[in-house]
Amino acid sequence: MNQKNYNVGIVGATGLVGQTFIKLLEERHFPLGELRPFASESSAGKTLICQNKKWEVTALQKNCFKGLDLVFIATGDELSLEWSPQAVEAGAFVVDNSAAFRMNPQCELVVPEINLKSVDKKRPQIIANPNCTTIQLVMALKPLQDAFGLEDVKVSSYQSVSGAGQPGYDELMDQIANFKRGELKAKTFPHTILNNVIPQIGSFNAEGFSSEEVKVMKETRKILSQPDLSVSAFAVRVPVPVSHSEAVWVTLREDANRESIVKALQDFPGVQVVDEPQKSQYPLAQMATGKDDVFVGRIHRDPENTKLWMMWVVGDNLKKGAALNGIQIAEGIFDIQPAL
Ligand SMILES: NC(=O)c1ccc[n+]([C@@H]2O[C@H](COP(=O)([O-])OP(=O)(O)OC[C@H]3O[C@@H](n4cnc5c(N)ncnc54)[C@H](OP(=O)(O)O)[C@@H]3O)[C@@H](O)[C@H]2O)c1
Repeated sequence: MNQKNYNVGIVGATGLVGQTFIKLLEERHFPLGELRPFASESSAGKTLICQNKKWEVTALQKNCFKGLDLVFIATGDELSLEWSPQAVEAGAFVVDNSAAFRMNPQCELVVPEINLKSVDKKRPQIIANPNCTTIQLVMALKPLQDAFGLEDVKVSSYQSVSGAGQPGYDELMDQIANFKRGELKAKTFPHTILNNVIPQIGSFNAEGFSSEEVKVMKETRKILSQPDLSVSAFAVRVPVPVSHSEAVWVTLREDANRESIVKALQDFPGVQVVDEPQKSQYPLAQMATGKDDVFVGRIHRDPENTKLWMMWVVGDNLKKGAALNGIQIAEGIFDIQPAL
């Protein structure tokens, strides 16, 4: 068994994803040597507690990754583009939560249950962690791809405010607190998010797709190694604190029945089927929040197209959608068995 301790950096340690990484390092008893939390200048000097020790937050600076085995990047694309290569140069593996390297052909885009095998574990490199909406989608698609083949995927996602980081989460909480006074200010989102449903996540391209929708379409094809897969995505922001929900229409290549689909999903690690609609039992954001698994339910077939199936997929965007997937990548490259 691997007994080594690893020195870990977290860039963006004070953010929602960074804090979830810290919780998971504890929860999974990650063999931690040193923890080096990084954030903006305004957070420098704060202390964070992980595995019963205090760690001081510092700003990024030249040579700040020296001696680290692993760096989780939990900031935006620009900072990742600048700092991830420096971490690799210092000898660390980088697991990047931003979108900066996801579609870079030199970088693997990894969901460990699906394609960890593609990573060369001997060579420090940047490994991209997919978009949160993509991760839970491919977790539900992969078992169906293996068992029946995929022809076409359509997904409409209903995404929580924490998907937009701490500012998004805080904006919903502020609007709830100020609701009775009627002072609802939109800053992070283009409109008031409380009591609303906003069909925009990111900016729009000439074809009318939002940047979030384009990420889901491209990343899904890359992770599933099916470049010709037809994928169309719609992304909607909803006033839910944590966990994204998705309505998915999937056309299979082969005929299937409900039983075999449920079995394929249930047998896949990290997926749970909750599907007794007559008893109002199906996945919910409240059920998924704080959980590691991706939940699937409402599995039913289109009456007019026997190969078209529908399902409802829910996952915690901060856990499997971000930090948990990142830690699983690290455990995979270092051959660490999580002590749960
Ligand atoms: N939220 C999700 O569900 C989710 C899921 C998948 C991927 N992601 C991606 O993960 C990344 C982090 O998202 P988040 O939701 O955690 O965002 P967040 O809550 O807004 O946190 C951003 C973090 O970046 C830090 N930061 C900002 N400027 C910095 C600088 N100049 N130097 C060092 N650190 C700096 C912030 O530090 P301060 O506290 O000091 O400002 C904070 O720790 C983003 O790329 C996001 O797209 C997020």
